Parts: sequence; structure tokens; C-alpha cells
Amino acid sequence: MRWSRAFASIFAATALAGCQGWQSALDPRGPKAGAIADLFWIFVGVCAVVWALVVIFLSVAVWRRRGERPDPLVTNAAQERRITIVVGTFVGLTAITLVALTAFSYAGQKRLFDTHEGRITLKITGHQFWWEVNYEDPDPQRSFTTANEIHIPAGEPVRIKLESTDVIHSFWVPSLMGKQDLIPGRQNLIQIQADREGVYRGQCAEFCGWQHAHMGILVIAHSKDEFEAWRNQQISARQPPEDEERNEGERIFLSKPCVMCHTVRGTSAGGTVGPDLTHVGSRQYIAAGTLPMSRGNLAAWIIDPQRIKPGVNMPLIKLDPEEVQPLARYLEGLK
Ligand code: CUA
Repeated sequence: MRWSRAFASIFAATALAGCQGWQSALDPRGPKAGAIADLFWIFVGVCAVVWALVVIFLSVAVWRRRGERPDPLVTNAAQERRITIVVGTFVGLTAITLVALTAFSYAGQKRLFDTHEGRITLKITGHQFWWEVNYEDPDPQRSFTTANEIHIPAGEPVRIKLESTDVIHSFWVPSLMGKQDLIPGRQNLIQIQADREGVYRGQCAEFCGWQHAHMGILVIAHSKDEFEAWRNQQISARQPPEDEERNEGERIFLSKPCVMCHTVRGTSAGGTVGPDLTHVGSRQYIAAGTLPMSRGNLAAWIIDPQRIKPGVNMPLIKLDPEEVQPLARYLEGLK
């Protein structure tokens, strides 16, 4: 008895553990994810009731089984009529259930894709294997680009335009919104909203190549003031290096092929093939959620990106051993 109870609680704990956390469609933290979760529970509830009814009727039929009829050709008209009524009723109920589920699904879809003009519009572009994020503003001076981490104000709808430059990716932050594809040559529009401050994890949900699994994205929801502070800091160009070693790091960065792919605003580096690194040090992760941000991880990544993300488009750059430390310190300091 004690064993079965222990087993039941362990089973429940492990089964439900997947339903919570920063990346779960069953732990909705915004109206769009709420629409999907509502739909999910309605379907689960209706299907559970139907399943239970089928099992009950089947069990009763088996339980009350009668012997074989002596002559199968002899029929009882009253009994036949009763059977017809019962079967007809259940066919009708099935049809009503299907129509009701379709209606719920339609209403859920409407809630999901209902977008309206908001204060904040982002454009997210999928790349193999990272996310480019443009904060659009009517004033071009206040538009800026970042990567792999989206910051939004909590309690406010944010419009997101989804595009891709290479193959099809899929934007999926389960706690906030359902999946939506990023398709080359086309723009899809969604809206997300986080009801409360917090960090929500998302993931590319369409197989896009070798490192599809390492294409994570973070959505960080702030209070309004915090968000404005973050935005103003991201709009600014990089802070000039404050000491000799970081100065050396910037010199190395600008003399290497890094500048062909990466931008650091405030320097001559203006490549747009890879992520904008102007404030890379302010991000929580590097390589699209693959490694936590730290000087050591930056160094490991620069020395051999193919070892950490085989198949990634970042090439191997020839560096002298003594160049690694200043370069990693320079990048880490780009807050
Ligand atoms: Cu991008 Cu999978």
C-alpha cells in the first residue's frame, strides 16, 4: 500500500514536472498562450468524457451479455425501435460534439491571431541558427538590432513580424504564443504579451539544419521603466574600451575577418551576416542559447565554434594564443 502510494506520487511528480517552467504551453503566461491552453483543456475534457462513456457502455454490454438467440431471424419490433432510438441519439450527440469542438477551435484561432497596432513592433529574422531582432521605430535613430534575446514590457501587446533569410524556421515561445513559421520571401505577423515580468524560453520548432536544436530564444519581460532603460541602453553605440587590454581587444576585433559578419555600432565593424555584437555582453547566453555568457565561453566559442555548434556558419578565425584573452574581454565588456 505504502509502495503504491509512493509510486503514484513519484509518477505524478514526474508526469506534471513537464507542465511547468519557463518553456511550457501548459503554463501560459499571456493571453495568446492562454487561448491555446484553454483549447487544449476543453479538448482533453471532452475527449476524456467520451472515452469514459465508451468504456462504461462497453463494460456494461460485456457484463450483461445474453446468451445466443435460438433463431436470429426472429426479431422483436419494440426492441428494434428502442435500439434505433438509442443509436440515433448517440449519432446526434456525436455530431453536436464535433460541431461544438470545431466552434471552440475557431474561436481559439481568432483569439490567437487577432493582432492590433501596438506601441512596440519587432521584426524577427530567422537565420541558420540564430535570431536577428530589429526593434522598429518611426524614428530611425531609435531603431536598433540585437539577437537571440527579446526584451518586452510586461502587460503590453508586442507585434512581431517574422521573416527568414535562408530556410523555414518556426518561432515558438510556448508560455506566450503558439508556433508560427518564418518563411523566406514572406512575412508572418503575430502578437505576444507577457502578463507578468519574467524570463520565457523559446525554441526554433521547424527542423532547419544541423544546429536546429541549438536555436533558442529568450523573451525577457520587464516593468515599463526597466524596459525603457534597456531600450535606451541598446540604442546607444558601444562604450569605448576603458582600459588598455580591452582597447587591444577592439583593435584585434577590427583587424580580423570578424567585421565582415558582425556589427559593433560606434566602430568600423558593420557586417550584417552574423549577430549584432554592439551589446553582446548584456545578453545572458551566446550562440542562440547554447552557452551561458562568460569570458571563458566567449573564448571557447571564438577559438573553435565548430566544436560547440558543428555546422554553424561562423568560420574558424586564425588567432594567436595571446589575442584570445583581450578579444574575449573586449566582447564580454560590450554591455
Ligand atoms: Cu531554425 Cu530550426
